[in-house]
Amino acid sequence: MKKYIIAPSILTANFLELKSDLDKLKKAKIEWIHYDVMDYNFVPNLSFGPKILSDIVNNYNFKMDLHLMVKVVGFSIEDYLKPFVQKNVEQITMHYEALNKRQLISFIKFCKKNKIKASLSINPDTEVNKIKKYLPSLENILVMSVNPGFGGQSFIKNSLNKIKLLNEIKNNNNYQYLIQVDGGINEETYKLVQEAGVDIIVAGSYLIGSNIKNLEERISKLEG
Ligand code: DX5
Ligand code: ZN
Repeated sequence: MKKYIIAPSILTANFLELKSDLDKLKKAKIEWIHYDVMDYNFVPNLSFGPKILSDIVNNYNFKMDLHLMVKVVGFSIEDYLKPFVQKNVEQITMHYEALNKRQLISFIKFCKKNKIKASLSINPDTEVNKIKKYLPSLENILVMSVNPGFGGQSFIKNSLNKIKLLNEIKNNNNYQYLIQVDGGINEETYKLVQEAGVDIIVAGSYLIGSNIKNLEERISKLEG
């Protein structure tokens, strides 16, 4: 049976408890951590940057899944991304809506050059159609199932059709990308995304927090 990759998002963590959260995830055999970077510009929230990333990668060996919800202004894509190229950075996602065409192409080139998986995300209001021509060059597509900016929001069901469509396009064309979903994953919605054919499941508030007593059970459900 298919095993899904689980990438817990630390966005909603209490940062005074981050070490304990990461230790619990390690103990539960989690391999990926989803790292949400926000800029108060593309999204109405501000999170963290390269420094906390380096604290994590210097102390743990998680594969880091960077989700950049940012517009790049006043920097080249290369200069903006350079500080994020660190040990164990497995994948970087940027948003189709946040980049102009030239930036998008530089982003994909930058990832290839640095041997990092290039991933593009689309918001709930963006159709798969818009990114069609980039699909052959991408290693992952992140389908947002909430409007980016905050953890703990409700799942938007329309994302299921996009996951199915991305699978169809992938199979028909023999493309290589994986399909990832982010936002609103919980006890009810995880089954829906599994059935729709996702490969990587991001979960924030469902997995992180001191109130979660059955972490390993939750992870094993998500893993399938
Ligand atoms: C939202 C972030 C998500 C968020 C998910 O903009 O990209 O990764 O942390 O949190 P939940 O799983 O609580 O929706
Ligand atoms: Zn995210």
